[in-house]
Amino acid sequence: MFGGCYSGFADRKLYIKNKIEIITKYIPRKYQQIPKEENFLCGIIGYIGKEKRALPVLLSGLKKLEYRGYDSAGIAVFGEDKDFLVKSVGQIVNLEKKVEHLDSGNLGIGHTRWATHGVPDEKNSHPHRSGSITLVHNGILENYMELKQKLIADGVSFESDTDSEVGAALLDYLYYKTGDMMKAIMEFKKMVKGSYAIAFILKGLEDRIFVIKNLSPLVIGFGIDECYVASDIHAILDKTKKYVTLEDGEFAIVKSEGIELYDYDGEHREHEIKEYDGAFADSDKGEFEHFMLKEIYDEPEVIKTILMKYVTDQGYVNLPDLSNYKNITIVACGSAWHAGLVGKYLFEKNLHIPVTVELASEFKYKSSFLNEGDLVIAISQSGETADTLAAIKIASSLGAHTLGIVNVKESSIAREVDEVIYTLAGSEIAVATTKAYLAQSTILFLMSVKDKLEKDEYKQMVKVPLVIEKMINERAVYKELADVIYEHDDVFFIGRLIDYAICLEGSLKLKEISYIHSEAYAAGELKHGTISLIREGTPVISVITDEKIRDKTISNIKEVKSRGAFVILIVSERCNVIGDFYDKKVIIPKEMVGLEAIISSIPLQLIAYEVARLRNCSIDKPRNLAKSVTVE
Ligand code: G6P
Repeated sequence: MFGGCYSGFADRKLYIKNKIEIITKYIPRKYQQIPKEENFLCGIIGYIGKEKRALPVLLSGLKKLEYRGYDSAGIAVFGEDKDFLVKSVGQIVNLEKKVEHLDSGNLGIGHTRWATHGVPDEKNSHPHRSGSITLVHNGILENYMELKQKLIADGVSFESDTDSEVGAALLDYLYYKTGDMMKAIMEFKKMVKGSYAIAFILKGLEDRIFVIKNLSPLVIGFGIDECYVASDIHAILDKTKKYVTLEDGEFAIVKSEGIELYDYDGEHREHEIKEYDGAFADSDKGEFEHFMLKEIYDEPEVIKTILMKYVTDQGYVNLPDLSNYKNITIVACGSAWHAGLVGKYLFEKNLHIPVTVELASEFKYKSSFLNEGDLVIAISQSGETADTLAAIKIASSLGAHTLGIVNVKESSIAREVDEVIYTLAGSEIAVATTKAYLAQSTILFLMSVKDKLEKDEYKQMVKVPLVIEKMINERAVYKELADVIYEHDDVFFIGRLIDYAICLEGSLKLKEISYIHSEAYAAGELKHGTISLIREGTPVISVITDEKIRDKTISNIKEVKSRGAFVILIVSERCNVIGDFYDKKVIIPKEMVGLEAIISSIPLQLIAYEVARLRNCSIDKPRNLAKSVTVE
């Protein structure tokens, strides 16, 4: 127990709860499985201002944060005679429908959730209300079970088993005990282990939002007589470009006229308001049916932007010189890890530097062989992936030089590393990355260029965006290939060396958005087991972009072909393949100046897209996935 000075807790909770309108849907008992552990990614938004704009601001912010999770969402809005809390399961549109009849207030917080434990239902959604506290949370309160037991012993009851509700109850308890919210927050910091970005409103003090942060990202935006709170600057960029990023060890009181910032000793801290200078988050998919397709169509422009920024007219590459490093470690997750593998093959081949590519989630816990001064490269679209961020922190603590290849400006990884290279892909909305992955791989290719691109190479390179544009426009080709694949249960991808890295990404793209089981194999490895899975008609996609290993891969293709596979070959024109060992072929034009392998990921993205479309899948927001994975 917490000292036993507190009684009547449950009564007070009931009293407060009865005074407010809570709109929730009845959930049958059988679905009320209470999760044992709460572990989720989510997005937080908050608004306080003189105008009654909270409701539209929260909804528009939540839509922009939906990439962080879309299992369920909720908002709490306050104002004169106003106090409502609404939650709904599924995407933000469901929440929108539930609140369309409600008038806005001038203060509110909202949340979008992605559950990994426990059903995504309303009771587990945020905001959570406990006594005088209404709270949204991103992160994990690791010792919440222990805290919860103590609170229960003190008479507190819970509606969900989330760690976040425990956070709300603890703040309420500590406020009751100390009578001072600042003291309560400082005490909270001492008692709670884990990561959190929390925004909460205290009953009776509805002229402010309290925000506290440890490890999970949180920004505060400044308008005229209004302030915003968000997990991500992009959620509020259409409202303001002026912002402050909260650092670990800080908490703030946000009012419409500005903020007060403190450290956990209660000392006042100065803050400098920054002006965001990145591109405005483009969340309009225009005439495209899906963001994913739009983002694939953005790819020629992305390559053009990268070339303009990082390569001079004389062909010199303006990116860090890696030639002095004895070995390089790359840390990343998901598709960014696949880009890391592309980097490995390119650095080893062109720069002759050994490269280790680590899954960030593994890197954190394995034995490390880093030496002082080694280079560790973190690759991340969002710049917020918790495992990659943690890996970089470990690398720094071991004395490594850290370099980030990051898409989102001012993101946590971008701020954490010693040096950052922005991938300039623009905002990416579809959960399955396409243009950001291509941008990462292209940057890695340019970093692998020794000295400079020769004059002819440079001339050719600037034409690459046009060539890609032509490739992308051949939609009929990809639709035809999708037609072959979409009714199958398994698809295999095979390639060697860098083509294998491309296959891994192609396979991930297909399975994550179409839900077809798919695996990528190093072509020579297939006969050590997997070949037993090849049956009449099984689609096998093979990538060949390297002439040196062309014939070896072709032999492997023949092995699957003779066992009935339907072979789709993605092949560089330069490789000049002949023979009837495949069923369909996509040619990567030869004018690619070393980018063949990287560019061959584009047909794979388009095939995955068309297959998912034929299967009527939720392409931009695939089942159970989130774009930014901000917990371990
Ligand atoms: C999630 C996304 C992937 C992404 C991975 C790493 O799983 O769905 O598309 O590759 O996270 O994200 P990052 O933002 O670090 O590149």
